[in-house]
Amino acid sequence: MSPKTGTILVTGGCGYVGSHTVLSLLESGYKVIVLDNLSNTSSSAEPAVTPEALKRVQKILSTDEPIPFYAVDITDKPALVRIFESHPDISAVIHCAGLKSVGESGRRPLDYYNVNIAGTVNLLQVMEDFDVRRMVFSSSATVYGDPPKIPIPETSPIVASMSTYGRTKVFLEHIIKDFYRWSATLLRYFNPAGAHPSGIMGEDPQGIPNNLMPYLAQVAVGNLEKLTVFGQDYPTKDGTCIRDYLHVVDCADGHVAALKKIEREEAAGTFECNAYNLGAGTGCSVLDMVHAFSKAVGRDLPYVISARRLGDVPNLTADPTLANKELNWKATKTLDEMCADLWRWQRNNPSGYRTQN
Ligand code: WQD
Repeated sequence: MSPKTGTILVTGGCGYVGSHTVLSLLESGYKVIVLDNLSNTSSSAEPAVTPEALKRVQKILSTDEPIPFYAVDITDKPALVRIFESHPDISAVIHCAGLKSVGESGRRPLDYYNVNIAGTVNLLQVMEDFDVRRMVFSSSATVYGDPPKIPIPETSPIVASMSTYGRTKVFLEHIIKDFYRWSATLLRYFNPAGAHPSGIMGEDPQGIPNNLMPYLAQVAVGNLEKLTVFGQDYPTKDGTCIRDYLHVVDCADGHVAALKKIEREEAAGTFECNAYNLGAGTGCSVLDMVHAFSKAVGRDLPYVISARRLGDVPNLTADPTLANKELNWKATKTLDEMCADLWRWQRNNPSGYRTQN
């Protein structure tokens, strides 16, 4: 069977990584449709209204042409079927939709299993029914748990011991591998951060952010008083945890690279399901990030040290060699660019997408 080329369905396409991926796909000449239940965005859930994140994509591209959008939840299988019926040209799915808060996953485990696992199984079943055999999946470095070796190669064991959220990613990697005898790529994100350099698109978490960089951005803009650093007694250079922060635009470009790899392989008659680390390969401590972002903002941002956060591991730094080689992809943006872009976004949009510009 010759591979179909057509439209790319992006699930979770109004979210942080999803919306930047939609932009990268459109910039690379792909046709895109977006599915999102808008559960973690400030956009209206009214289906007729284009979500603000997608309006911003149009703004960056200087186009009035709307991006086809469906306010649909992946747990709603009949609605998924209707999308595939309306778009027989869907050739691949970039699957970013899912719940993603580690802490919340401990409090609402069944919601995480329902949305992440049952929702993805629905999606895979519909893809199978419509003979769509290409998927790029948002996985996470959290699948490595507390890895034995830093930097972490993809061959490091994936473990199911860290959190309910992490377990859903581990299970989904297995499910996609089991199902996908065709073409799938699992992208293990390290820590996506920053914003589009235009300052028009960025991360817009609802409520108090769980993650370091959006929290710091809220401190900088005056919405939160100070950062709490979770633990300074780790076996690292300054006692705070090390992570591999990856510019969100590089992360988005990784999805396009993954899709292109699938297309190349299918053209050559090979079909694979591999996992790749999307990371810069550079470890930064929490205090490194506080200082780098303070530099971008132009003043010292206040912080206090507190106890460790449950479930944090000392160091998650990627070995991105395999992704560099096989995806033809490399993180290109610096830490300073990441911080400057995040600050531009937050300064211009202190209330995220609810800001009237
Ligand atoms: C980074 C460091 C915290 C907040 C998680 C998920 C991962 C991915 C990204 C995706 C840690 C410290 C944080 C704060 C702090 N999720 N921190 N004060 O935990 O590495 O990764 O988010 O969808 O899968 O596991 O990211 O940004 O929460 O934390 O000191 O207020 O910052 O302890 O060391 P994490 P993070």
